[in-house]
Order: sequence, then C-alpha cells, then structure tokens
Amino acid sequence: MTKKIELTGRPVISSTGLFTPEETITNEELVESFNAYVERFNAQNAQAIDAGEMEPLQPSSVEFIEKASGIRARHVMAKDPILDPEVMAPRWPERSNEELSILAEIGVKAARQALERAGRDAADVDAVLCAASNMERPYPAMAIEIQRELGIDGFGFDMNVACSSATFGIQTAADYVRSGNARSVLVVSPEITSGHLNWRDRDSHFIFGDVATAVLVEDAAMAPDEHWDILGTRLKTVFSNNIRNNFGFLNRASPEGQGKADKLFVQEGRKVFKEVVPMVAEMIVTEADKLGLDPRGLRRLWLHQANAGMNRLIAQRVLGHEASPDESPTVLDTYANTSSAGSIIAFHKHNEDLAEGDVGLICSFGAGYSAGAVFVRKMA
Ligand code: COA
Repeated sequence: MTKKIELTGRPVISSTGLFTPEETITNEELVESFNAYVERFNAQNAQAIDAGEMEPLQPSSVEFIEKASGIRARHVMAKDPILDPEVMAPRWPERSNEELSILAEIGVKAARQALERAGRDAADVDAVLCAASNMERPYPAMAIEIQRELGIDGFGFDMNVACSSATFGIQTAADYVRSGNARSVLVVSPEITSGHLNWRDRDSHFIFGDVATAVLVEDAAMAPDEHWDILGTRLKTVFSNNIRNNFGFLNRASPEGQGKADKLFVQEGRKVFKEVVPMVAEMIVTEADKLGLDPRGLRRLWLHQANAGMNRLIAQRVLGHEASPDESPTVLDTYANTSSAGSIIAFHKHNEDLAEGDVGLICSFGAGYSAGAVFVRKMA
C-alpha cells in the first residue's frame, strides 16, 4: 500500500522504542563493590604502599557520585560480574555465529517496539542504521543482523559518533528521506556501555549504564497521524582527546598494550564539562536562529544524559532561565549515561503530554567532540 503513496520528501519521527535491561545497580551497591576492590588491592600491595613505592587506591562515595553527576542507579546487562570485585566487568556466555548477537538482540527489542507503536510493517522499512558508540564486532554490520532479524528488505550499516551517534543517525535517515533514497529508516542505538567502562576507575566507575533505543524516521506521507515533524538538524564535530578509548583491532599487534586502562573509556571530565557546554549551547542557539525559531520558546529540551550540571547550564543558556524538570527532563538518575541513547530515552519517556504544535529539541553531545541537534514539532 505504502509503495503507491506520493512521497513528500519531508522527514518526520513516526515513533520511538526503548529496551531497558531488568537488572539495576544502585550507587550504594556499586560503591560497596568498588570499595571492597580498593581494600583488597591496598592489602595485596601493602608492602609497596608502606615503602612509598605505590599510592594506595582511594575509596569511592555515594555522596560524591550523586552530587557530581546526578546519577543514582544504572541498568546493566550483567550485574553479578560487574559487582564481583574479582571481575568488575560484564560477562555472558559467548554466542555462536548462528545465534543472535547480544547487541543485535537488544537493538531488535527496541526496534520492534518502535515499529509496533507506528503500526509499521517491517516490509515497509527501507533501511536500518545501527548508530552506537560501541559495536560488538567490526563486521558483518550489526545493522545488517538487525535488518535480517526484523525481516527488512533494503540496506543497513553501522555508524559510530560516540554519544552523538543517535542524532547523527537521525540526520542521516532524514537526508535519505529528503533525497528519496528511503521512505522509512530505523535508527537503532544498542548501548552496552558497561563493556567499555573501567569499573576499577574511581573517577568514572559510576558513569555508564546499558539500554537500547530505536527511532523510526519516515516520509511524512506514510507516517501515522501522531508524529513529530523534523524541522531541522545540525551536526558538529571538533577533535579532542578529552574523551578517548584506544581499543581497536590494531591493538592485537602490540601485546604490551593489552589490558591497559586506555583500551577502555577515559576522560578529563572537568575539561569536557567546560568545553562542551558552550559549544553545544552556541550550536543550538545558532541553528534555532537559522530555522527562525526563538530558542526561549522551545517547549522541551531532551538533552544528552551525561551530567545533571551540564544539562542545567546548557538549558539555561538556551532558554534564558533555569529550566524546570518539565522543560528539561532527566533520566540520568535511573539510567546514568547511556551514551547516544540518553536523549532518545528522555524523548521516548517524556513527549506524550506535549500539545500539537509544540516545538522541542533532541540534542546529544560527547566524544569527538561531537554534537547533534534535532528540532521537532509535534503533529497530532
Ligand atoms: N568518589 C569520591 N571522590 C571522588 C570520586 C569518587 N568516585 N571520583 C573523584 N573524586 C574526587 C577527586 O579525587 C577530586 O578530589 P580533589 O578535589 O581532592 O582532587 C574531587 O572528587 C573532584 O573530582 P573531579 O573528577 O574533578 O569531579 P567533577 O566534579 O569534575 O565530576 C564528573 C566528575 C565525571 C562527574 C564530571 O566531570 C562530568 O560529568 N563531566 C562531564 C563528563 C561528560 O559529559 N562526559 C561525556 C561522557 S560521554
């Protein structure tokens, strides 16, 4: 039926989907496990510490985590091994090539929900973009595995722009619709960030959580009555080493590099905070101006969920006043930082109460540096 419709070339968000892992880790549980590790480490290295050859590790604290980040808990795919002071990493049985990969599995769950909410038959979807900060393997693409599992006839590929992957994916999907290269595109963001987090690093062990989101971007002509017009999108990247992960396939060639902490997520959190806030606020205000929108009139900001303080500052610069939770909702307290999925979770959970004609902004930012803004208007 949709094959016969007259396409408009106007991209909209038809629906979103969310998969949330059942298991959660509270700050209390996390800090208890981290501090048990610290105690063991210091006891094992007591001689070197006493001789002044080694610094003792410092304990973590629940109060610090909540105050510095706004995070209270996170969902994870494998709680027990993460909390085991001997392991402190997610673990699950390796899957054979015939089984669905774990990243594809959670991506498919979010995608199915998005399809269902739009009343969309998978046969009418033309493309799948798997947009996330960590892929399970280099190839075959996760997107193609998700495509096969959903029964989509078309094409798929993976894209990685760290925390901005989902918004970069939305613009890419919107461009396919604008050009007529696709009518319906699924942007899937499975984020098992517990795999790239160094759970032994006091500065960042509390930051991340696992989740998967999906966004269905379509030509307005085939969208359900209730959808979100995409008014405009803007992407920006500026190189920085302040958030970095050196894990990669070339590391195999240097065994001395194996096991080093730089093969996991590392950051200069303070610098990130200071440099990214002005960059993102300026991008939003400039782009709103280009679109003829008054940023102070944005009804809701669905911001990247990395740090409550960063969001407070960005929202203030954009709206011109301290944002209420209604204007800038957070999911950071229960989900932590879920990389590219964060702003999509916020949008997914906090959009139904808006009225027809309300304009809002989905915005992500992170490693690269990278930032993506998607301005949307609710259509009933
Ligand atoms: N428990 C207790 N104290 C801790 C701690 C922990 N887990 N981790 C660090 N501290 C201490 C530090 O040792 C430091 O002590 P000092 O002042 O005596 O030197 C103090 O707390 C401040 O540490 P700092 O790392 O400067 O904290 P912060 O206020 O910058 O908060 C972040 C840390 C990571 C929460 C914050 O910088 C942040 O979120 N930045 C943005 C990060 C971001 O968005 N990244 C994108 C990722 S995709």
